[in-house]
Amino acid sequence: MSDILVIYASRYGSTAQVAQMIADFLNEKGHLAETADVKDAPDVSRHNMVLLGSGIYAHKLLPEMEEFIAEQRSILASCRLGMFGVAMRTEVIHKNGRSFGGELILDKYELNPLVKGMLHGRMDFSVLTEKDRGGLERFYDSIGLSPEQKAERRKMRDEISEDECSNFADQVIKAL
Ligand SMILES: Cc1cc2nc3c(=O)[nH]c(=O)nc-3n(C[C@H](O)[C@H](O)[C@H](O)COP(=O)(O)O)c2cc1C
Repeated sequence: MSDILVIYASRYGSTAQVAQMIADFLNEKGHLAETADVKDAPDVSRHNMVLLGSGIYAHKLLPEMEEFIAEQRSILASCRLGMFGVAMRTEVIHKNGRSFGGELILDKYELNPLVKGMLHGRMDFSVLTEKDRGGLERFYDSIGLSPEQKAERRKMRDEISEDECSNFADQVIKAL
């Protein structure tokens, strides 16, 4: 039996939910998995495998996960590691000769995880802080969305997928 710690950073709860779903699938498949908020993470060196998951904001992990990685880099380098991002757009984007987004976001942290994945999350405009809402509105303007397209984006979008979480759990088990 292997024990797996899933550490997550989540601003509005969708990454916390995805982390719990991954842990539930791992437990169902006979492993011992638990989740922890990155703000309150236990000692990572005592686990067979550590999964780091974060909501994606402006193509980056949340600052608290970035800080955790910076502080724990040397310990994480000696762990069996997995990483996942939770985002509305999970594929790599190719534009004007440049590639960004998707798993490239995870690669920037240079942790070389055994497993990595981008999973769909949830966006509920009604719960966003004014700052986040303003940030998104500026982003929509910068990519030239029409008023109709912007209205569409502001609708509640819950794209959390059990299949994606189950597939990710299967990849983790293969890497154990
Ligand atoms: C201000 C803001 C910026 C975001 N930036 C991105 C982004 O760069 N790429 C993306 O795919 N999704 C982006 N999203 C969508 C979030 O990644 C998605 O809603 C995710 O599920 C949030 O995770 P959380 O609920 O755990 O905080 C953004 C959302 C907000 C509010």
